[in-house]
Amino acid sequence: MKLREEKIVIEVSHITKEFVSPKKYPGLKGAIKGLFSNEKVSKKAVDDISFTIEAGEIVGYIGSNGAGKSTTIKMMTGILNPTEGRCMVNGINPCKQRKENARNIGVVFGQRTQLWWDLPLSESFTILKEIYDVSDEDYKERMVFLNNVLELQDFFDRPVRTLSLGQRMRADLGAALLHNPKVLYLDEPTIGLDLVVKDNIRKAIKEINEKYQTTVILTTHDIGDIEELCSRIIIIDQGKKIYDGSLEALKDTYGTKRKVSMEVKKPEKVEHLNLAERLGVTAQECSMEVDKEQKVLTVTFDKHKLQVPQIMNAVMELTEVQDVKIQETELAEIVKQIYNHGFTGQEA
Ligand SMILES: Nc1ncnc2c1ncn2[C@@H]1O[C@H](COP(=O)(O)OP(=O)(O)OP(=O)(O)O)[C@@H](O)[C@H]1O
Ligand SMILES: [Mg+2]
Repeated sequence: MKLREEKIVIEVSHITKEFVSPKKYPGLKGAIKGLFSNEKVSKKAVDDISFTIEAGEIVGYIGSNGAGKSTTIKMMTGILNPTEGRCMVNGINPCKQRKENARNIGVVFGQRTQLWWDLPLSESFTILKEIYDVSDEDYKERMVFLNNVLELQDFFDRPVRTLSLGQRMRADLGAALLHNPKVLYLDEPTIGLDLVVKDNIRKAIKEINEKYQTTVILTTHDIGDIEELCSRIIIIDQGKKIYDGSLEALKDTYGTKRKVSMEVKKPEKVEHLNLAERLGVTAQECSMEVDKEQKVLTVTFDKHKLQVPQIMNAVMELTEVQDVKIQETELAEIVKQIYNHGFTGQEA
């Protein structure tokens, strides 16, 4: 138990953030009324969220737009004060000990840069070196590593405003890592990037995590980021935590659907087959589609109720099967379902 406690880097306990804003009324009349009204409405952007994160973990913090991800990250980084609850990072309270906290963390908000817009990137790095008090020796070693993984040398002398989005994101990531922080917060680090740059950024995050055991908290809408980087994900919905666990467990409990596609010799023979009835399951547990032109029969089934050979046997009684492909439900599909209907598979 003691060992586990020592490894805990982030401890978020029952944090809530309530935003109070002026009440809005509909229409032009309403807008004018709003100007003179003192009525306020409050909204819990984050609602009683708790979790702990251990050193070296890469955790995906996901949820639909407006779920409360950035607000949580802002509380963890000390930018926002929680309305209730507490957050401890490396044993300190980020809101109360902002300076000490800054030394331990690196932050990248994909939507906007933290760098000096008009200065050459090299100068931004020199300033950050001074701010974080990085020794010449450490700086050199760090730059070798960062140049290696992020290839900053290609545009190191250019003003930040002239950089492309992909270059700027690499620059921002490099800047956030200059002081070798223990914890790295990434809020949508791959937003708007092309596939090659996305891949490079992911590789860089992986390398940093492996080499320095940096703990990474990542918010993203890109399922590829999650699949490539995160062993654990936390899902939030309307400010509440609805899932916290491994990617495998999520796929296991929620991705119960599987698809099998069969290329068949005579599709017309199976066109009217009621496969669910034949196999003694409900229509939800087994449904099928026939593409007569391509001669492909696709069956979607619940993997806890049926197995591929059962399905194939039923089909082969009617026509010859020439090729078979089996697919698990894709993570993107699972996540879409959870965003739409909430999570019912497991207690958060
Ligand atoms: N400063 C603020 N004042 C009032 N409401 C706010 C403020 N910041 C955020 N909100 C509201 O809190 C909710 C959560 O916002 P947040 O930015 O945390 O969402 P998010 O999960 O990061 O979404 P996205 O995926 O779109 O980035 C939203 O309804 C948002 O409008
Ligand atoms: Mg956000």
